[in-house]
Amino acid sequence: MALKSIACIDDLRRLAHRKVPREFMDYYESGSYSEATLRANRDDLEKIRINQRILAGASDRDLSQTVLGQSQPLPLALGPVGLTGMAYRDGEIAAARAAQKAGIPYTLSTLSICSIEDVAAAVQKPFWFQLYFMKDRGFIADLIARARAANCSALVLTADLQVLGQRHRDVHNGMTVPPRIRLQTIAHVLSKPAWVAGVLLGKRKSFGNVEGRIPGTEHLSSYMAWINSQFDQALSWKDVGWVRERWPGKLIIKGILDVEDAREAARVGADAIVVSNHGGRQLDGAPSSISMLPRIADAVAAETEILFDGGIRSGQDVFRALALGAKACLLGRAYLYGVCAAGEEGAYTAIDIIASELDVTMALAGVRRIGDIGRSSLASGT
Ligand SMILES: Cc1cc2nc3c(=O)[nH]c(=O)nc-3n(C[C@H](O)[C@H](O)[C@H](O)COP(=O)(O)O)c2cc1C
Repeated sequence: MALKSIACIDDLRRLAHRKVPREFMDYYESGSYSEATLRANRDDLEKIRINQRILAGASDRDLSQTVLGQSQPLPLALGPVGLTGMAYRDGEIAAARAAQKAGIPYTLSTLSICSIEDVAAAVQKPFWFQLYFMKDRGFIADLIARARAANCSALVLTADLQVLGQRHRDVHNGMTVPPRIRLQTIAHVLSKPAWVAGVLLGKRKSFGNVEGRIPGTEHLSSYMAWINSQFDQALSWKDVGWVRERWPGKLIIKGILDVEDAREAARVGADAIVVSNHGGRQLDGAPSSISMLPRIADAVAAETEILFDGGIRSGQDVFRALALGAKACLLGRAYLYGVCAAGEEGAYTAIDIIASELDVTMALAGVRRIGDIGRSSLASGT
């Protein structure tokens, strides 16, 4: 299947499976434990019915939205996805360029393959940097300083990963610390020669932002062990103040799924929050992101901007989230499939598909502007 015959995100997903070894696709697609929360993210979105309106004069539609004071042509951002650079050579740069072309923010993960400086050198527009708060405060202070030096326009503090949720498929595949390389994995890798040439033979193969932190180490697995020992279970709201002192710019807190947490985030001065359960990869059994969005938006939208992620695979999904109170949506796996399939072009295709689906949905729902999408845009009873 060529990129030009791609019609939807699911087509990109199928193409991704043809390009990238199974073990990595499993890592990208899995949720934690029983995957109940992963499934709920999609199921609950699909249950929401959109109100069909006719003869509403919905021409000249405008999909632009203001996010953190910046006007952008779409109510979207690319969310942080660790190890994007294992999907395609320099995958983070590919995604950042696609976001730049679409005029939307890109979020670089702490756990990226390309470093902050690599990405900054490859794009002209500022991007967002996602921070995992780790025990090594010197390292965190350093990362914040690097993000400032790279002119990042927002810091996304991810707060729902104080310990790692287990993904069973990663255990079965040996995607653990240290990795267990199985014969089957070697066979899967060798069956994707373009990926081997692009990724395995590329120059960047470890965590770009962590390189040099542990002297004498260059291997992904040693970095993984260090990172795993660094997640800080003692983290509390006080620590956000520590970050604030070092980061005067826009601050986004990601991983909010509870109304009280949302209120606390607003109290500590978050400019925005991301209603998120980490794509069903952390607390298995947690509610879907979309089911928690309306009450969180009702509670804090007057004080902080509401961003949303979890299961967005279409423009209809974006419409649903906007109707329930989100200002913009972060894409996760939707654009990652594009990167797997065709790097920058694939990521751009993912954004473009979702944008045109959103546009058509607005026309058929009789809405001309993003700001006009609201609860009345949903069929009653949903
Ligand atoms: C493979 C993968 C890696 C991720 N890595 C990070 C990360 O490094 N930092 C972070 O804040 N969120 C990370 N996330 C969570 C995403 O930012 C986002 O919350 C999630 O993917 C949204 O769900 P969706 O993929 O179903 O749209 C990751 C998600 C996936 C699928």
